[in-house]
Amino acid sequence: MSEARLPEGSGSAPKRGEMIAVCSAKGGIGRTIMAVNLAVALTKKNVQVGLLDGNFQFGDVALALDLHPTFTIKDVVESLGEMDRYALSGFLIHHGSGVKTLAAPERPEYADLVTPAVIEKVCDLLMAQTDYLVVDTGPGLQEQTLQFIEKADQIFVLTTLEMSAIKNTKLMLETLEVLGYRHKTQLVVNRATMDSVIKAGDVPDILGYETSLFVPNEWQLATQSLNTGIPFVQNQAKTELAKALFKWAEQLVIRREISVFKPKSGSFLQSLLHKTSKNITSLF
Ligand SMILES: Nc1ncnc2c1ncn2[C@@H]1O[C@H](COP(=O)(O)OP(=O)(O)OP(=O)(O)O)[C@@H](O)[C@H]1O
Ligand SMILES: [Mg+2]
Repeated sequence: MSEARLPEGSGSAPKRGEMIAVCSAKGGIGRTIMAVNLAVALTKKNVQVGLLDGNFQFGDVALALDLHPTFTIKDVVESLGEMDRYALSGFLIHHGSGVKTLAAPERPEYADLVTPAVIEKVCDLLMAQTDYLVVDTGPGLQEQTLQFIEKADQIFVLTTLEMSAIKNTKLMLETLEVLGYRHKTQLVVNRATMDSVIKAGDVPDILGYETSLFVPNEWQLATQSLNTGIPFVQNQAKTELAKALFKWAEQLVIRREISVFKPKSGSFLQSLLHKTSKNITSLF
């Protein structure tokens, strides 16, 4: 993937990274812990990763990575006019893993300052300097989250096995389908090994979405990761929880490699026909 990256300062059109929106119908489903660990897991694939805290009211991505932001997206709003990818770099916090993070405002009342124009520009500038932009969104389908959903290349909708989560996830998936996003929506069953009347294996049928992304229920590891600010993919890499996140990252990279390097349809056949016709002509 790194071959596709443009050199810094190149005059060519900015490279466009892939935008990944991590969503859930309800709060507390695991969006932040999954977004953070997915972003860090992706860095192990030799790709540039950006992480945007899109939960503008109560974002806690910085906390989950033990980062102490000097700047947040609120500061970006204040100098939006002069913002380009180089200026934006100054507002990003660099995590030890290599993930470049843009934090949410420090107070909920600042969330409304993040207008659709800000989201558009910030996402484009972040994608110009990364291979993947992971966005931790707010819960449900509020306006800012809908904008991320619309702009994303892939939407991951998280659910757990709790009845209320399943019910609301179903409604969310139906809404995304009506909006025409089914093709880029994937289901993730988080805490899939939890004790529940609904079994993880039945969720794809119940929700009408196939998935191979089942994340085990590991309360202690998850809580420790959030409380210490050390992502479990870094210090608990051999656990089943971390393995599920590495698998998720692997799927993203493989899928992207296939779509980036896939030959244009017919191109092989056309070049073969071209060569053959040249050979035939040279015979006469
Ligand atoms: N796979 C898991 N196994 C066990 N516990 C988990 C798992 N995933 C998340 N949790 C726990 O669920 C809780 C919520 O996680 P998290 O804060 O990431 O969710 P969220 O969807 O971002 O919440 P919010 O809506 O508040 O932003 C945390 O206590 C976390 O430790
Ligand atoms: Mg969160």
